[in-house]
Amino acid sequence: MLRVTNLCKSYHTPQGSLEILKNINFSVDQGCFTAVVGESGSGKSTLLQLLGTLDYADSGEIILNDIAIHNLPEHKLAMLRNQHIGFIYQAHHLIPELTAVENIMLPLLIQGIGQKEARSKALNLLQQLKIEERAFHIPAHLSGGEAQRVAVARAMITKPSLILADEPTGNLDESTATTVFNMMYNMCKSENIAVIMVTHSQSFANSCDNIYKLSQHQLSPATLKNT
Ligand SMILES: Nc1ncnc2c1ncn2[C@@H]1O[C@H](COP(=O)(O)OP(=O)(O)OP(=O)(O)O)[C@@H](O)[C@H]1O
Ligand SMILES: [Mg+2]
Repeated sequence: MLRVTNLCKSYHTPQGSLEILKNINFSVDQGCFTAVVGESGSGKSTLLQLLGTLDYADSGEIILNDIAIHNLPEHKLAMLRNQHIGFIYQAHHLIPELTAVENIMLPLLIQGIGQKEARSKALNLLQQLKIEERAFHIPAHLSGGEAQRVAVARAMITKPSLILADEPTGNLDESTATTVFNMMYNMCKSENIAVIMVTHSQSFANSCDNIYKLSQHQLSPATLKNT
């Protein structure tokens, strides 16, 4: 359902061109939970941003559900993201004026789903993530880990075909991180969602269906088990 071919990305800085990704090739099946690991600065967030259509690649193809998303003009991207992609950012990017429950409801409201149904689905996710008591807090009044869980719920609520998660458990204690990981994993399997998760956690990576490592601008299958 996702196929990436010869993806290249450099950043242009005052010091010159900085090559980050060079000829990245991989594909992901529906219902498959994939981990992306790699050292800090190796380009994991950059890769996720390209897959999530938040930035353009220099060259290469990204095909999502038979749509060549690397070619789509900006005005078509917002709808594509809303319908197909859930993004959990490394910095969670919640809307500061909205409460937790309103932040989670928003992608459904954009799809035209009624307030009542959207609110009930959002509250249900908050409950599963064990933060229902913070439903009416604005992001500034949430802890880092609570805000991260709200961002996870916001990405999951539309049951998109692809969830891109940039260190979704990075700010969480072990027990909460396990709750969040298990919930994402279960949803991936029950709703047949493809998940690509960047993580520095070897144990979560080992629990995924596939592991890729980003190193020296290249993405290769990796085996972390028994290391
Ligand atoms: N807009 C930008 N302009 C120039 N360089 C950038 C830009 N964004 C990222 N970089 C550089 O690209 C490299 C890859 O960044 P990226 O954020 O993708 O790394 P990462 O693998 O996600 O790291 P981390 O594990 O620390 O989150 C870094 O060296 C970073 O400094
Ligand atoms: Mg990153």
